[in-house]
Amino acid sequence: MQVFKKISPLRAKIKKEKKSGQEIGFVPTMGYLHQGHLALLEQAREENDIVVLSIFVNPTQFGPDEDLEEYPRDIERDLKLAEKVGCDLVFIPEADEIYSPQAATKVIVEGLTNKLCGASRDGHFAGVCTIVTKLFNITLPNRAYFGQKDAQQVLVIKRLVKDLNFDLEIKTVNIVREADGLAVSSRNKYLNSKERKAGLVLFDSLNLAKKLITTGARDAEFVKEKIKEKIANEPLAKIDYVEIVTQNSLETVEKISGKILIALAVYIGETRLIDNLMMEV
Ligand code: PAJ
Repeated sequence: MQVFKKISPLRAKIKKEKKSGQEIGFVPTMGYLHQGHLALLEQAREENDIVVLSIFVNPTQFGPDEDLEEYPRDIERDLKLAEKVGCDLVFIPEADEIYSPQAATKVIVEGLTNKLCGASRDGHFAGVCTIVTKLFNITLPNRAYFGQKDAQQVLVIKRLVKDLNFDLEIKTVNIVREADGLAVSSRNKYLNSKERKAGLVLFDSLNLAKKLITTGARDAEFVKEKIKEKIANEPLAKIDYVEIVTQNSLETVEKISGKILIALAVYIGETRLIDNLMMEV
């Protein structure tokens, strides 16, 4: 496994591999690797000749009151895990390698980014789209891997790839969960033991919604109310949003039918967790 801090040697290496017919699978992350990231890397390993992992805590996708400074980092551990899962190339740039002070370009995907997390995290998706565009241009992947845990991010990135004619395929990987159902996340590290238990309310309320829908509930307001009631019963939880939307365009649904996405963002103490469930009715 080779580790790169600079763009140009990494790009030269990838170009050389591509010239000899190798296909590149790319997994962008912000590090502090966990089972969710490893699932993406494992799928990339199966489907490509060369697996490229990036680890970069991207400052432009964090709001001024968000956790950029505290975001967990452990590069040594990440490199061991990356090696174990069979990564070939790891890109760990410093921020000044990625963002020059003169930079004047942002990538903005309209529409989809006004909803869900985009509505509560101003500028977040512009930061994500800009860094992902730059990383695609640096790593020149044939396939790039994203987790369904960030359902909106997947849709936004797919839109970006179509709109900007990137010659690559976006692959999505199912949500990886802890044994009790909590979606694995780097931010789970912030939770103390009481909060860790309280965090289960996201998965539990999604399961409640699933049960209601599979037993015939079709009124989205009703299902959302039931989810909100369940979350309100957890004293450490505070709702950011509870939405039921179409899977393809994130439009709010009134009557539940077709391909829907139930998406939640909930603060557990200070920590904002997200989770979601896709259903076809
Ligand atoms: P990060 O939060 O590190 O996540 C990297 C990738 O891992 C994302 O595609 C995310 O959806 C996926 N992932 C995280 N938890 C997961 C889980 N429990 N199951 C499955 N996949 C999971 O998402 C980002 O970084 C950044 O926005 C990034 C795309 C790297 C741009 O900076």
